[in-house]
Amino acid sequence: MPRYAYVNGRYLPHEEATVHVEDRGFQFADGVYEVVTIIDGHLADEQGHLARLDRSLRELAIAWPVKPPVLRLIMRELIRRNRLRNGTIYLQVTRGAAPRDFAFPKAPAGTLVLTTRRVSRFGAPKQLDEGVGVITIPDIRWARRDIKSVALLPQVLGKQRAVEAGAFEAWQVDPDGTVTEGCSSNAWIITGDGMLVTRAPSNRILSGITRQSLIRLAAENGIAFEERSFTVDEAKRAREAFVSSASTFVMPVTRIDGTPVGDGRPGPVGRKLRQAYIQYAQQGPSVR
Ligand code: PDD
Repeated sequence: MPRYAYVNGRYLPHEEATVHVEDRGFQFADGVYEVVTIIDGHLADEQGHLARLDRSLRELAIAWPVKPPVLRLIMRELIRRNRLRNGTIYLQVTRGAAPRDFAFPKAPAGTLVLTTRRVSRFGAPKQLDEGVGVITIPDIRWARRDIKSVALLPQVLGKQRAVEAGAFEAWQVDPDGTVTEGCSSNAWIITGDGMLVTRAPSNRILSGITRQSLIRLAAENGIAFEERSFTVDEAKRAREAFVSSASTFVMPVTRIDGTPVGDGRPGPVGRKLRQAYIQYAQQGPSVR
């Protein structure tokens, strides 16, 4: 079955889908993106992801390439054409193609690209059973991490360091010793006295859409929650830890720089939140 991608008004075979050599996304990373999960034919947190896309675009003064309801239709059409029931849909908007010049082009025509990826399960059984390891690295990113920009070089380098260390993710650490977030996920701990903790949103982190839903689900499940920064040392002494993102939901972290977290096994709070999130995501808009 052919796999399609969407580029500026056309559904094209994935291998043939291309953008202009002078696209500003390619030359300046002048663009933003979103990743939305499809689970059992339902879009997880679609509204939240499109709201954040809107915010990212406004912060960078990039116009919506199509109206939001049209984007929703394009998403559904691509999912339908690719017969996707479980996977992710990637949306990217750039300021478009123009002769290379740092300042904005006078009449920008944005670029809109959508691709999908099939996923058989969100997290391998071994990762969910045993948890994953993270390493810690200095956060070398810019000061507007709240914008979901395609300028991801620090995260690319961080993830590569994680892979080379046999870890799943790299937690980025600010100069004051506090964890900001993973390279493509938010970071969470559960303290010795059972408090669920994640960093407050600011321009130091990307405010994850999964993160926002998990905060609501924690309240609904009677899990005590505190929004604050934590250090690497505090995380190593935590009872549990996990990361959250659209593509992993909740993934237990059982080693930080090789130090076991708690008893070194995934814990009940992370497990409960993962179940709650999956249940919630399965009630999202149906794409059938
Ligand atoms: N990454 N922090 C960063 C730096 C991220 O790149 C992501 C998501 C998150 C989690 O956000 P959300 O829950 O909205 O997915 C936090 C996506 C999945 C990616 O780049 O593939």
